Amino acid sequence: MSSPILFTVMTVRKGLIRIFSEVAPTYETVNHVLTFGLDVVWRKKAARQGARFKGKLWLDACSGTGETSRELIRLSGSERQIVALDFTPSMLTRAKGRSDLKKVLFVLGDVRFLPFPDESFDLITVSFAMRNLNPRRKILMDHLKEFFRVLKPSGIFLNLETSQPSNPFIRQLFHLYINFLVSPIGKMISGSLSGYAYLSKTIPRFYSAPLFQIILLEAGFRRVEYRYLFLGISAIHTAQK
Ligand SMILES: C[S@@+](CC[C@H](N)C(=O)[O-])C[C@H]1O[C@@H](n2cnc3c(N)ncnc32)[C@H](O)[C@@H]1O
Repeated sequence: MSSPILFTVMTVRKGLIRIFSEVAPTYETVNHVLTFGLDVVWRKKAARQGARFKGKLWLDACSGTGETSRELIRLSGSERQIVALDFTPSMLTRAKGRSDLKKVLFVLGDVRFLPFPDESFDLITVSFAMRNLNPRRKILMDHLKEFFRVLKPSGIFLNLETSQPSNPFIRQLFHLYINFLVSPIGKMISGSLSGYAYLSKTIPRFYSAPLFQIILLEAGFRRVEYRYLFLGISAIHTAQK
């Protein structure tokens, strides 16, 4: 890794941990309010889609307070282990305190350098975090290659993320909502001045679903497919190693 890129990664990392520590206590409430509860429906859909691929070991990367891990647990049965990894201690502390996540193994770590051997997992899920791994396309690619490394051959990578509606009118309405409402509402509930200002900025600049599909293919994945959720404001991508 060249030093300017290492510098970018370290600076972004420190800033993100500060932001996510600030928003952690109210993170779930803000999500439910801003999406009118749709985030719950989307996580359930994503978990159901991921669980179809079975296997024994699942990783919920950038797990936050464990909202998606909880859906995976519901579908995991007794023979599957779920690992939840995040680099913000206060997010993980909240997740660890949940009674519905007792079976999860929690790891404090950075997805850029996953502390797991090659070919460890059958399924990796990332929900609403890919935007944060994307200060530059090259850095995003490094993260995707790291997910690829720890997946077993034929293992599945599943990404749930906000997207860009393909209808220009809907896209514009969505961006107006993000630009003018997400930051003040997030700030009002969480009390974090910078948190939702930053998070709302990352939404309009994330890739469209077809472009993210191409990026996953470039990272080495095959059978990359996506489905839009609610008029394309979010999307689920699945990709196979
Ligand atoms: C928007 S939250 C999403 C949390 C959870 N996946 C969800 O769906 O509610 C993003 C999470 O990604 C974590 N995160 C961001 N970059 C990370 C990285 N490089 N390594 C590990 N965790 C990271 C943050 O700490 C935060 O908890």
